[in-house]
Amino acid sequence: MKKLTKADRDLFLDTIEPIIGNENMQETKKLIQHGNVSVFAHSLAVAAYSMKLGAMLEWDIDKRSLIRGAVLHDFFMYDWHRVNDIGDGLHGFAHPNTASKNALRHFRLNKLEIDIIRKHMWPLTFTKLPKYRESWLVCIADKYCSLLETLGLSTYNDDTFVKMGRNRITKTIL
Ligand SMILES: [Fe+2]
Ligand SMILES: [Fe+2]
Repeated sequence: MKKLTKADRDLFLDTIEPIIGNENMQETKKLIQHGNVSVFAHSLAVAAYSMKLGAMLEWDIDKRSLIRGAVLHDFFMYDWHRVNDIGDGLHGFAHPNTASKNALRHFRLNKLEIDIIRKHMWPLTFTKLPKYRESWLVCIADKYCSLLETLGLSTYNDDTFVKMGRNRITKTIL
């Protein structure tokens, strides 16, 4: 996939900064999503690939909301491999709502960001059709990243977006 422009890369890094600084977001490094990839790395990768897909399609999108919604789309805070039902229903169906509730406890989200989080599991959650272009991008990027992770083909980890610094990120994912 094509690289993002410098302006888009800077926007990405500036937008994720306050979110990944959140204590609970840091806790998601301890939770595994697929394979050996944490929920933290998965969430950031989904945000990065959503941006790349949006750029590839040349869609007119709210990039800041796209990144914020994507980073928080799996902010559910429990190990779904151990606890598949936290009381709201099976993980696959229930976690978009759990994630949006959690996210709203820590961040002020706009309607687009909430839609991104709540609708990202479509078509599993069949009645929750993504409403905005940004929600579609995250819905697709999430499936793409999940597949890479499950097959062991993903190239990112917790440090990809944090410790390696801007140039390194640019070379790997963005
Ligand atoms: Fe999810
Ligand atoms: Fe996800």
